[in-house]
Amino acid sequence: MARAPALFTALLVLAAAAPALAATYTPPRETAALPPGPGADKARLYCLVCHSADYVTTQPPGMPGAFWEASVVKMVRVYGAPIPETETKALAAYLTAITAAPPKAPVR
Ligand code: HEC
Repeated sequence: MARAPALFTALLVLAAAAPALAATYTPPRETAALPPGPGADKARLYCLVCHSADYVTTQPPGMPGAFWEASVVKMVRVYGAPIPETETKALAAYLTAITAAPPKAPVR
């Protein structure tokens, strides 16, 4: 065990240096956010734990409520999202509202 003190000293030196060696990391800025509106708080709570808002905002605009309801159910059944069934309709209504088709340009 003659080497034990040397090993102990090496560990002490490493422990002392650890804070200086710790890497700092700044995550990239969010590029998408869920817009405000009725149900936004629920969507932020239940949808953003796994992925960013881009998954929602990059879907085709104007999809019907049934599409969004099925999406929420898919998140639960396929990916195991912990979303109470009682929240499905409110979430679908919010998602349908924020992804509604943009208003058509007026015809001249
Ligand atoms: C438990 C984790 C989890 C939660 C919570 C979650 N998702 Fe997802 N979601 C996923 C995974 C995994 C994918 C598939 C990712 C891939 O294919 O790259 C996905 C994909 C999607 C997609 C892309 C299209 C598709 O059907 O694959 C949409 C839209 C989406 N999620 C919406 C939502 C919404 C809205 C909520 C909240 C109601 C939500 N997600 C909550 C895990 C989750």
